Amino acid sequence: MATKMTAPKVLAAKGGEKLRMVTAYDHPTAQIADRAGADIILVGDSLANVVLGYDDTLSVTIDVMVHHTAAVARAKPRALIVGDMPWLSFHVTVAEAVRNAGRLIKEGGAEAIKLEGGRKRLPVIRALRDAEIPVMGHLGLTPQSVHAMGGYRVQGKRAHAAYELVSDAHALADAGVFAIVLEGVPDVVAAKVTEEVPVPTIGIGAGPSCDGQVLVFHDVVGLGGDHLPKFVRRYGALRDEAVAALEAFFADVRSGEFPREEETYHMPEESARVFRELTEAPAGDDLFADEAMER
Ligand code: KIV
Repeated sequence: MATKMTAPKVLAAKGGEKLRMVTAYDHPTAQIADRAGADIILVGDSLANVVLGYDDTLSVTIDVMVHHTAAVARAKPRALIVGDMPWLSFHVTVAEAVRNAGRLIKEGGAEAIKLEGGRKRLPVIRALRDAEIPVMGHLGLTPQSVHAMGGYRVQGKRAHAAYELVSDAHALADAGVFAIVLEGVPDVVAAKVTEEVPVPTIGIGAGPSCDGQVLVFHDVVGLGGDHLPKFVRRYGALRDEAVAALEAFFADVRSGEFPREEETYHMPEESARVFRELTEAPAGDDLFADEAMER
């Protein structure tokens, strides 16, 4: 059996076999991801859009993240469990950031945390490292900045912005992150970061050069919405399969074909006889005489 993934092992995978990362927000999904061989399971704040129906990730709270991380951790995956720090859980004070990250570890069972942002986040990253919490960075199209970016836009398309992004990646690595997610950036920028920075890069919409790739579980298996970003490749059609399964169940309910004999519980024959007599006896009879005799 493959051994447990840890943050140091992820760091050591730089430049080696590509890292395989996927989101999971609950126990069965974590089991599926683990069985499929995930190296890293991210309990992403994308759960806000993907399973809670919000328009963006901003509404999700640290309490919700802890709740879902704990469900994933109960699957005891081989994969490293990374809990995502939601918006405003690490922006107000450094102390609050450490406390919130600590909740993902202590109550949620995460083994590392991820947070969005570049050089602005260095004091928080250093404090988390001082508290022995492994940190994964996240640069480029950071969904928590949706309003600041003016929408979900590819980042680092202009030379100066790309240069800043590479500098941010160096700064995060110097502060001790064990990996960096690069989301929604041109391939050449991701390639430059991957080449220069001594920690693994994990791409999502960042081209093929990264040290690993991540996608949202629901997008990969075909449980997601119909409008997927360009960078998603769908490998399954589980939503269609689920609808077909439910349609078949409902049809069997209507026709009486479900449940069958083998799906039904039965009473012992003698109890069934007594039960019949009891329910058919005229009012006033001693209803329990037979059963008393049996005993
Ligand atoms: O929340 C999330 O799912 C993420 C990944 C898309 C990297 O941050």
